[in-house]
Amino acid sequence: MKNILITGGAGFIGSHVVRLFVNKYPEYRTVNLDKLTYAGNLENLKDVEGAPNYTFVKADICDFETVLNIFRTYGIDGVLHLAAESHVDRSIKDPFTFARTNVMGTLSLLQAAKECWKGNYSEKLFYHISTDEVYGALQFDETLFTEETKYSPHSPYSASKAGSDHFVRAFHDTYGLPVIITNCSNNYGPYQFPEKLIPLFINNIRSNKPLPVYGKGENVRDWLYVVDHARAIDIIFHRGKIGETYNIGGFNEWKNIDLIKVIIKTVDKLLSRAEGESEKLITYVTDRAGHDLRYAIDSSKLKNELGWQPSLQFEEGIEKTVKWYLENQQWLDSVTSGAYQEYYEEYYGLKDKK
Ligand code: NAD
Ligand code: DAU
Repeated sequence: MKNILITGGAGFIGSHVVRLFVNKYPEYRTVNLDKLTYAGNLENLKDVEGAPNYTFVKADICDFETVLNIFRTYGIDGVLHLAAESHVDRSIKDPFTFARTNVMGTLSLLQAAKECWKGNYSEKLFYHISTDEVYGALQFDETLFTEETKYSPHSPYSASKAGSDHFVRAFHDTYGLPVIITNCSNNYGPYQFPEKLIPLFINNIRSNKPLPVYGKGENVRDWLYVVDHARAIDIIFHRGKIGETYNIGGFNEWKNIDLIKVIIKTVDKLLSRAEGESEKLITYVTDRAGHDLRYAIDSSKLKNELGWQPSLQFEEGIEKTVKWYLENQQWLDSVTSGAYQEYYEEYYGLKDKK
């Protein structure tokens, strides 16, 4: 049996990765380590929580002794590290938390892997899930980010992710730790916390609340359906080359305002409102500080070397996503009210261990 540690498995992308591993690999034990911050929600994993090959451990990745103990207790031989503070706006208000979790937390996991594996690296892997934001911002006429693009992070979030990537590489170069890093573009899909653009706007449209568009809405992001990201992670975890970086993206660039109009059109259609009715909710607000103009990923290396490409067309993915949020209004209500944390602390008997 392989013992796989997935950090941040109660979050948005992590929950899709946990689900995929638990269902696809009954021969592995999947250990989900998550602190359950505001972004962690065990309700995302209701369908796998009783599986015999799944274990949840509530812990903070920054707590080195606890992390080391988890490595030893479960004989961890593969790490998929997703736990992080992930929202750029929060990083602008509170950079310390981002440096702590993203940099020190990653360092704590690396050090635990190194101490536990003791130089015996056969069949071992430390895989860090990172972001395209470490590359900085593109102008409209620039070519896409490749694996060779120099790091140039601008926000406290991307600076902290760049710092964590550098530590991962340093552990490979200095101690020979077997590592892989992937840098992915913007994800969308079910279970995303409604502070991020797509779920926030779906939620606001359904409740007839203003849609806060930063600046002129001209910034560009490259969108990928989260299940396609999880599929890429699975392929890279099993067949990626040690020491390599892979970019993951959908070749799917959208100007924010155009994307917002697609979301409005889709929600209006599914709620049987007149076409474009909710465009009146668009409200231009002060721009995000240091707002990166454009991200766009060249994922040809991953396609050419490992055969991965997105399976879903964007229009299909957006329709699926909007439908999911509208059909799961209880999930949205529970995360916006904060009720989800109470319920699961009770369920897992975690209340006293806070
Ligand atoms: P998320 O915010 O939805 O989830 C993060 C998870 O990490 C939560 O479950 C949270 O409880 C957990 N966590 C936070 N601090 C922790 C700590 N100290 N110890 C243990 N657990 C902790 O994030 P996401 O959007 O799913 O992103 C997952 C990873 O993928 C992150 O590393 C992020 O940088 C990266 N990424 C995200 C995107 C995207 O579009 N969302 C794109 C590229 C890369
Ligand atoms: O590129 C990958 C990154 O994508 C990940 O590493 C991050 O974890 C993830 O949060 C995401 O970062 P962004 O800042 O691009 O995502 P966000 O959903 O916050 O914003 C998307 C775009 O929409 C961005 O240009 C800012 C804009 N925006 C966002 C919000 C929340 C608005 O105009 N209004 C909003 O209310």
